[in-house]
Amino acid sequence: MIKNIAVIGAGTMGNGIAHVFAQYGFNVSLVDTSEAALEKALQTISRNADRQVSKEIITQATKENILAALHTTTAMETGLADADLVIEAATEHTGVKLNIFKQLDELAPPSAILATNTSSISITAIAAATQRPGKVIGMHFMNPVPVMKLVEVINGYATAPQVTDEVVRISRELQKVPCIVKDYPGFIANRILMPMINEAVYSLYEGVAGITEIDTVMKLGMAHAMGPLQLADFIGLDVCLSILKVLQEGFGNPKYAPCPLLVNMVAAGKTGVKSGEGFYRYTPGSKEMVPAF
Ligand code: NAI
Repeated sequence: MIKNIAVIGAGTMGNGIAHVFAQYGFNVSLVDTSEAALEKALQTISRNADRQVSKEIITQATKENILAALHTTTAMETGLADADLVIEAATEHTGVKLNIFKQLDELAPPSAILATNTSSISITAIAAATQRPGKVIGMHFMNPVPVMKLVEVINGYATAPQVTDEVVRISRELQKVPCIVKDYPGFIANRILMPMINEAVYSLYEGVAGITEIDTVMKLGMAHAMGPLQLADFIGLDVCLSILKVLQEGFGNPKYAPCPLLVNMVAAGKTGVKSGEGFYRYTPGSKEMVPAF
């Protein structure tokens, strides 16, 4: 019976994951190396819960329960002591994740399931850093977590079927829709999304159409909520570039080679919403979509 959750990493994804588990009645320990990140996460969760209250998705009492169910700590051992399920949502860096999983394996109870929210790192490689590869699995939430329904459940080479069943069950308890996939580069979401974004960047690079036209074609023509260039800005152009490199290297197929324009933009620090400029310019307080070039 899963009741106690530890979330490692309190950034964009970690705070959303902690929020959703607390919303559905789990006890949540949120762990980060940075005290400031933990403080910011609690503020974000409170603000997002207020928005849910104003939209009548949750009641004020549920908001208070969410905040009461959350505990934050910078001490990994405290957060993990009685965890039934750990979800790692720390920085997307192989070295960082392998280190964290070694610690999780030592500190979490032997029965605990160790899940990672990685977008692109091999679940099998992460599992191999532990003595319990059968209990390691991918649980890939989408941003923003309280809103997006999908959980991509990724089976590593050694993931035990009971562990997959448990993660599917728990995802449904969170009112999410789990989809089980195998552990190959990009899984399904990014294997299909990133080449589409890359093709949109190539279309721009080759002058086939402008930024607004490319995004409008995909929004109105394909019923996408956002155009691929806007979505790339939202995800972060540095993140898109690094996932394309994982696909290119993982499959050894040049079709995944990142467009030189994407490479240049990242080198110039134009990484999208977080830097204030990518394919569009972002002014705080304004929702207007202004193409950057
Ligand atoms: P982020 O940069 O917002 O947050 C990462 C957090 O991890 C930071 O607060 C950092 O202090 C913390 N951290 C780093 N090392 C740590 C350690 N050893 N122990 C504890 N905390 C540590 O990153 P974000 O965007 O939340 O991504 C987290 C994970 O989720 C990554 O694996 C990413 O690929 C994945 N992901 C991100 C999505 C997105 O849209 N941002 C979507 C789906 C998955």
